[in-house]
Amino acid sequence: MARRLCRDGSLVSAVHLPTIADDAGSGIVLRGIRMRDARALDHELKLNRTWLRTWEATNPSGFTFGGDPKSLIRLLLAQARDSVGIPLIIELDGELVGQLNVSSLVYGSLSSGQIGYWIAERAAGRNVTPTAVAMATDYCFSALGLHRMEICIRPENAASLRVVEKLGFRYEGLRRRYIHINGDWRDHFAFALVREDVPEGVLNRWRAGQAPVGDARIPERDAVAASRDPRLDTPTGYPSRAEH
Ligand SMILES: CC(C)(COP(=O)(O)OP(=O)(O)OC[C@H]1O[C@@H](n2cnc3c(N)ncnc32)[C@H](O)[C@@H]1OP(=O)(O)O)[C@@H](O)C(=O)NCCC(=O)NCCS
Repeated sequence: MARRLCRDGSLVSAVHLPTIADDAGSGIVLRGIRMRDARALDHELKLNRTWLRTWEATNPSGFTFGGDPKSLIRLLLAQARDSVGIPLIIELDGELVGQLNVSSLVYGSLSSGQIGYWIAERAAGRNVTPTAVAMATDYCFSALGLHRMEICIRPENAASLRVVEKLGFRYEGLRRRYIHINGDWRDHFAFALVREDVPEGVLNRWRAGQAPVGDARIPERDAVAASRDPRLDTPTGYPSRAEH
């Protein structure tokens, strides 16, 4: 395996990550994360601290990568080398505006993965994330031969729920205290697509206006049963400025 010396003296093995460009001229590109993204990533994460914190995965041990983006990137690249993750940068017009990670990759009889994402506040509301999720899902189905892609979202995260709704991901259920987010175990709604759902591709289906309406609808029973943080129950699902 090819190895490379980093500026900080550590040795890393080369890992091949895809570059996926949207041909339709949106300016959106997904590309593999690199050690040299550390500075730009650190800048974005600090700039968007308040915007991201509520939805950020945390470690129950209290460990944090805060202020050490190189360690975070090193971990993501190690997961890629172990074939359990695909860490991607979301670029808009050549600028780093977010991250999309495919994680929990398994092959064989399960052949599935999970998708997580964030976008800088200045790029929000422009369909960048749904486009990126569609591109990544299509890549996983067509290039990797995966069968099922899953996205899990906190009940209060109205913006992220819109992403799966737009793309026609199917609601699959309520997962109790499923992921450690912003310091505690949080309930999540799970959504998924399998390859047979989208023979034409997720991006093509959405752009053709063919994404099924209502597949991401959450049954009343689960909507009521999901544990919510009342401070986040604003019309947008985002904490008001006063709560930041
Ligand atoms: C969730 C998130 C990734 C959506 O990305 P996006 O690229 O803005 O997605 P969209 O453009 O499809 O916008 C989705 C919804 O966000 C809402 N929205 C748009 N701009 C917004 C803003 N500036 N502030 C709050 N909400 C906004 C709108 O309701 C929009 O739905 P609409 O297009 O029907 O109006 C982004 O809001 C984000 O990174 N949030 C913080 C981190 C996070 O929640 N990650 C996901 C964890 S599951």
